[in-house]
Amino acid sequence: MNNIILCGFMGCGKSTIGRIMAKKAGLTLVDMDRYIEEKEGMTVSEIFEKYGEERFRELETEACRELSERENLVIAAGGGTLTFQRNIDILKSSGKIVFIDVSYENLCERLERDTRRPLLQVENRNEVIRELLDKRLPIYRNAASVIVNGNFTSGIVASNILGIMG
Ligand code: S3P
Repeated sequence: MNNIILCGFMGCGKSTIGRIMAKKAGLTLVDMDRYIEEKEGMTVSEIFEKYGEERFRELETEACRELSERENLVIAAGGGTLTFQRNIDILKSSGKIVFIDVSYENLCERLERDTRRPLLQVENRNEVIRELLDKRLPIYRNAASVIVNGNFTSGIVASNILGIMG
């Protein structure tokens, strides 16, 4: 039950913040996208392209199940992971969910040059971010037991989370 699960929109800093937290607190970071990529031997983009988003979501739930069996982890979830109730249920049973809240403007800026995230390889990227964010914000807020302001540097956000978690 002692894992820390970081959730939030693409570009909110889950992986970087998670890496800093893990180092400071002597925990192990698992980046869920990288975990799936290593297991499948394919990038997230390739999985989306070859098998579709639905298959990726199944793999994500499989990863949630496997990681929830482990302890002392900081889990950087994918941006969509915690939008599925089944994943919330699994991950909640293994630790505390932290939502890293970053403003729309900052997300757009941070994601401006992204080439890695299949959902953002569109002409109207900022509109897609707006739509997805509006849909997901209430879900993230509801899933999390801790909400932190993510509009600071990764180091500050990491320290703030560790401070809150005691
Ligand atoms: C997704 C976020 C990505 C990755 C996939 C889908 C999403 O993770 O899982 O591209 O639905 O928001 P990051 O939040 O780490 O970019």
